[in-house]
Amino acid sequence: MDRVLSGMQASGRLHLGNLIGALQNWVKLQEKYDCFYFIADWHGLSTGYENPFAIKESTNDLLINFLAAGLDPDKCTIFLQSKILQHAELHLLLSMITPLGWLERVPTYKEKQQELKDRDLSTYGFLGYPLLQTADIIIYKAKYVPVGVDQVPHLEISREIARRFNYLYKEVFPEPEALLTEFPKVPGIDGRKMSKSYDNAIYLSDSPEAAEQKLRTMMTDPARKRRMDKGAPELSPVFHLHKIFSSKEEQDEVAEGCRTAGIGCVDCKKILIKNIFKALEPIWQKRSELIANPKAVTEIVEKGTEKARKAAEGTMVIVREAMGLDKI
Ligand code: TRP
Repeated sequence: MDRVLSGMQASGRLHLGNLIGALQNWVKLQEKYDCFYFIADWHGLSTGYENPFAIKESTNDLLINFLAAGLDPDKCTIFLQSKILQHAELHLLLSMITPLGWLERVPTYKEKQQELKDRDLSTYGFLGYPLLQTADIIIYKAKYVPVGVDQVPHLEISREIARRFNYLYKEVFPEPEALLTEFPKVPGIDGRKMSKSYDNAIYLSDSPEAAEQKLRTMMTDPARKRRMDKGAPELSPVFHLHKIFSSKEEQDEVAEGCRTAGIGCVDCKKILIKNIFKALEPIWQKRSELIANPKAVTEIVEKGTEKARKAAEGTMVIVREAMGLDKI
């Protein structure tokens, strides 16, 4: 079975956008591949080093949601990055052979620095982010890495570094490939892309009441100010959520109702809320079971971590040998 690996950075709670854009895909992949999924808590430090306790909270939230959304520890390996020191060792060794220019040229480096202007990101850890990500991936000799398009440059540099290691020392690492799947973009309640930084997200940890409240205030077609105004569903972020969560019939019904002013935004949102709740209720249910049983959760992640550590150490034995470090 080919190996798939992916991680999620611990820097906030998991929201509907992460569920649709990543986690649900991970759940599907566990049926067909040898999947390794982890929480990148060290990566969380790259931007959140001033408040490491928030990373701990985020880690717990992600872990519960991984399981609640259907990752099955009997089918995939779930672990925590910071518990596997071999990632750090490989990251250090790779740092010796990585030209600075390669890291400086990764487009996310400058983009993210711009986006998070209020933080001092002129650190080594922030520049080295894609290198740590490379270590995460190649230490498991992963073949496929399911990620969003925004991560493609990181995969590019991972391939280059794997190639450079193989060339300098020994053919150890396969070049990982991004596994890109098209997902509908999930809008947040203000119509922009759902993101924790925009304060527009619906979190899996939101209570049903909070989620409903957010959806009720969600932006619609801005031109449809009054009930009798006709609207354009394509311009309404609510309709985009319908496309993800509602049946084809319901989509047609609300689209038609919007165009003709046959239904109001309140009714349209009622249908959406019903359908989102239908999707989230089993997850909410599973979340409360897991929260009530923290021991079981700890056991799952400890078992996964042990298995991942064995795999990582197996690679590191070969890496140390290839670099002559076992003989010193
Ligand atoms: N950069 C990824 C994110 O933003 C997290 C991540 C860290 C990752 N290491 C990885 C993803 C390795 C895939 C493979 O969420």
